[in-house]
Amino acid sequence: MIKILGTGSYLPEKIMTNHDLAKIVDTSDEWISKRTGIKERRIASDNEATSDLAVKASEKALEMAGLKPQDIELIIVGTSTADYSIPACAPIVQAKLGCGKIPAFDINSVCTSFSYAFMSAYSILSTGFYNNCLIVGADTYSRILNWKDRNTCVIFGDGAGAAVIKKDPSKKGILSYIFGADGKDADLIRIPVGGSKYPGQDPSIYKYDDLYFQMEGKKVYEFTINVIPDVAERLVKQANLTSNDVDWIVLHQANYRIIEAVAKKLELPLDKFIVNIDKVGNTSSGSIPIALDEAVRSGKIKEGNKVMAIGFGGGLSWGGFIVEW
Ligand SMILES: CC(C)(COP(=O)(O)OP(=O)(O)OC[C@H]1O[C@@H](n2cnc3c(N)ncnc32)[C@H](O)[C@@H]1OP(=O)(O)O)[C@@H](O)C(=O)NCCC(=O)NCCS
Repeated sequence: MIKILGTGSYLPEKIMTNHDLAKIVDTSDEWISKRTGIKERRIASDNEATSDLAVKASEKALEMAGLKPQDIELIIVGTSTADYSIPACAPIVQAKLGCGKIPAFDINSVCTSFSYAFMSAYSILSTGFYNNCLIVGADTYSRILNWKDRNTCVIFGDGAGAAVIKKDPSKKGILSYIFGADGKDADLIRIPVGGSKYPGQDPSIYKYDDLYFQMEGKKVYEFTINVIPDVAERLVKQANLTSNDVDWIVLHQANYRIIEAVAKKLELPLDKFIVNIDKVGNTSSGSIPIALDEAVRSGKIKEGNKVMAIGFGGGLSWGGFIVEW
């Protein structure tokens, strides 16, 4: 059904190590490394917004795909940190890339955005109305983090990844998928002020912290550890595969301990998992496509491989699929 023609990624130049963070908040390299597996992350420069990261990743994906911006028929950007509340990020990416006046829209499912965007692109291409799609996952969480909150600011980094997919009847495409959301726990990951409920024009009714990203880490951790290993196991079964048939697994890089838990559940060695959390932290929507691109460019993921990708995060939401590359 689809072929992945190319991938690309972009990480801002500035590196922030755990030691750098220890100078800002009460934390240590030891705590962050042990609890998350993160050693460093990238931070966008003052003149870089999410669309800029997305464009750089997209240019690389287009180059690998051997396509020009004008060849692209549809753009979907997964992000929860678009340049503005309005307009969406995708039309800005479209114009900056120099594409035609093609449809371009965002999907915001927080850290699950790229998975939702990928599945949406796949579904749209399956209708037959479009032949190809540029799918991007891009976020600039450094702009929404509370740099006084050690519970959250040590976890995230900025970055973008992209993939170009094309309709191809000779390929199987998606072999299985599981998507879900549980809105009753929506407040576990949030920015309380700035939306339509609390627009934030009146500073006397909110606290400084409420303008920034908040996460109840322990509860989110419990949710992921309960749900994600099970999703991984069901994806394999749904595809009529055994876990050994899956060549590579790319999980949202949220916490190395979650990756270990999925490896245990599937009884697979950790070297089947693409891991870059140590270098990039949690890049939210960028997480899966950046890891995919690094694995393609290093020669790990090859044509014909079965690749399982699972995203999860705010909403709460989760979404995974196995795709034949
Ligand atoms: C965030 C996370 C790494 C925290 O790890 P944890 O083991 O749950 O840690 P806790 O939140 O229970 O905190 C334990 C202690 O460390 C402290 N702590 C929190 N952040 C700290 C930091 N950066 N440095 C040092 N200590 C810290 C806490 O204050 C707490 O101290 P206390 O016991 O005195 O109250 C973990 O919960 C996690 O990965 N959550 C899931 C994130 C996720 O999957 N997100 C996906 C969607 S974005």
